[in-house]
Amino acid sequence: MTQRIHNFGAGPAVMPLSVLEELRDNTIVLGTTGMSILEISHRSKAFDAIIKSAEARLRRLLDIPGDYAVLFMQGGASTQFSMVAMNLMTGSKKADYIVTGHWAEAAVKEAKKVGTVNETGSTKAENFARLPRADELKFDPAADYAHFTSNNTIEGSEWLRPEPEVGSVPLICDASSDFMSRPIPVAKYGAIYAGAQKNAGPAGVTIVIIRKDLLSRSSKSLPTMLNYAIQAEKESLYNTPPCYAIYAVDLVCKWLESIGGLSAIEKMNAEKAGLLCQAIDASGGFYRTPVAADSRSRMNVVWRLPNEEIENRFIKEAQAAGLDGLKGHRSVGGCRASLYNALPKASVEALVDFMARFQKSNG
Ligand SMILES: Cc1ncc(COP(=O)(O)O)c(C=O)c1O
Repeated sequence: MTQRIHNFGAGPAVMPLSVLEELRDNTIVLGTTGMSILEISHRSKAFDAIIKSAEARLRRLLDIPGDYAVLFMQGGASTQFSMVAMNLMTGSKKADYIVTGHWAEAAVKEAKKVGTVNETGSTKAENFARLPRADELKFDPAADYAHFTSNNTIEGSEWLRPEPEVGSVPLICDASSDFMSRPIPVAKYGAIYAGAQKNAGPAGVTIVIIRKDLLSRSSKSLPTMLNYAIQAEKESLYNTPPCYAIYAVDLVCKWLESIGGLSAIEKMNAEKAGLLCQAIDASGGFYRTPVAADSRSRMNVVWRLPNEEIENRFIKEAQAAGLDGLKGHRSVGGCRASLYNALPKASVEALVDFMARFQKSNG
């Protein structure tokens, strides 16, 4: 087998090796079906068992209450930017959006096509280097919902503090890049959505967890595929779902259960992020984070070097040393290491060692 390298990519991202092995085996023949997982019908008994298992595991891992529906959707989190607004902005046609980064802005852009958006707590003037304080957030009690992004994949900040206090207004969360990296109190949310391709599986499926009473807001005039109520009623099988991706989500959830669930993975994630942040902070300013101490993400750790030329050399030499995906997003530059669930601690240790060696020869 070709050697696997250390994959710090922001998504699609590293998957657990045991999951890849199981996918490989079942890509030829799945169980007793005599067919590949890629070949079976989405209406078959075998697939019915898979999608039900994926949902059951998600429910167990996240402790999802019974009055929430779990949907397997297509079109990425980007489609959810539109679906959330189209389905839920139906009363006052106003919604609050906490603006903490590029993806939050993208969500705002789509919501503005549907209704009135109150942008609150924006830290754009500070290059999104921190999350807003509670006293900077102004919510409208008449809003149809309030939306926030729990992890800002590009800017490297994460909402590790308690959820924003929005009273009785449904709280909606784009959790794409920290979904299932730690336990969350689902009952505090109206809906949570996440593209799978960071922590939950491969690209191609987006998980939506939505409180069932909110489904009554979906207007019959919506395009069928973009209607939460229909997707829930048809149990994500109105049309052909991304069967392979859903199967992979089931296997990733099985892996998470086998290692002790979300509390266990949270501990491992905190350790990995701690190792890297400590290396950055102890470098005497050679590596420096632009993110405020109380806002740093465990999933996407970002840092700068003394100048862009050294940054480019760092990324190139790291790549040559088997450390891939460390270039920051093109909109912000710098370096970024994504430390999702499946990234082994040994990868972070290899990165930290490389950083020390690089500083010695370039510092
Ligand atoms: C927080 C967040 N939201 C939304 C998106 C967009 O996701 P997709 O490409 O699945 O539409 C991303 C992609 O990286 C993201 O990190």
